[in-house]
Amino acid sequence: MLAKPLIKQIKLARPDDWHLHLRQGKAMRSVVGMTARQMGRAIIMPNLSPPVKTVKQALDYRKEVVSALPKSSNFNPLMTLYLTDNTTKQDIINASNEEHVYAVKLYPAGATTNSESGVTSLPNVYPALEQMQKESIPLLVHGEVTHDDIDIFDREAVFIETILEPLTNKFPGLRVVLEHITTKDSVDFVTQSRDTIGATITAHHLLANRNHMLVGGIKPHYYCLPVLKRKVPHQDALIAAATSGNPKFFLGTDSAPHYQNEKESACGCAGVFSAHAAIELYADAFEKANKLDMLEGFASNYGADFYGLKRNTEIITLEKRPWMVPKSYSFSDSKVIPFLAEEQLSWRLML
Ligand code: DOR
Ligand code: ZN
Repeated sequence: MLAKPLIKQIKLARPDDWHLHLRQGKAMRSVVGMTARQMGRAIIMPNLSPPVKTVKQALDYRKEVVSALPKSSNFNPLMTLYLTDNTTKQDIINASNEEHVYAVKLYPAGATTNSESGVTSLPNVYPALEQMQKESIPLLVHGEVTHDDIDIFDREAVFIETILEPLTNKFPGLRVVLEHITTKDSVDFVTQSRDTIGATITAHHLLANRNHMLVGGIKPHYYCLPVLKRKVPHQDALIAAATSGNPKFFLGTDSAPHYQNEKESACGCAGVFSAHAAIELYADAFEKANKLDMLEGFASNYGADFYGLKRNTEIITLEKRPWMVPKSYSFSDSKVIPFLAEEQLSWRLML
């Protein structure tokens, strides 16, 4: 049998990031260029402090992001609103009339970073969800229950059973993206559900499992929410889904920069920063699974299709040129530690 020729270069349509945290002000200005260099578009999360709840706030935030971009950049930030108990039908109508607002994000109150204003009880947002169903605005879901009595490793699976399944039954026309999925339960749920239900998968959930975070000492830069799970069956199910060619699964980094000291703390905050090497990290994961040929669909096509947007046509090139991820990047007046700091990546985006 002939050996497979070694692949040295991959060309693909410019990818998009369907789940990204950019923060604000100086912090945002430190990181936005990294995403803009790689991605055509990104869905920008609204969990600022205070959260982005109205179209006006979303447009102001967008302006701030755009003004931080290099002049030559064609990067398009796609804005979202933060769903609260008080979101009205009119807020949704306003969103649907605004070309730069693409989705509404559901954080269960207390689930993660800056989620204090999140939804406390789903019936509170039924009128908003009804309107979203009508206007065909996607609901982006942080899929974890927050009850103290539910083990943190089970929170996603319990969310699907107790919240998401009833919700998707109640609103059968609602478009839903289950964000940053971490379990086989989510893969199965999304695979078996109707076509209007999709999911994003992060590079860190493809490349790491809870052993990376907990063996040999607690590694705070691997801590994110939903928390990393076991390799078998969860990480393996995510890899299989991402590389399957099923268009319900697409790229969303959930890159979430935090100050180094706030991660390396007695109560470290949740978030993995991966914008520095997003597409390279995914390329590594797909190569490990021997599925590089499935990367373009996942990274560049299926998300655009789900959102009903045109696919990017510009082509990017990745080359097999091993490089070392820096120890840190400057982040406002401090530092952010990137995912896989000081480790070697195989693929490099050529510009
Ligand atoms: O790990 C996370 N970090 N998960 C989230 O859901 C939020 C994010 C953040 O904003 O830091
Ligand atoms: Zn997120």
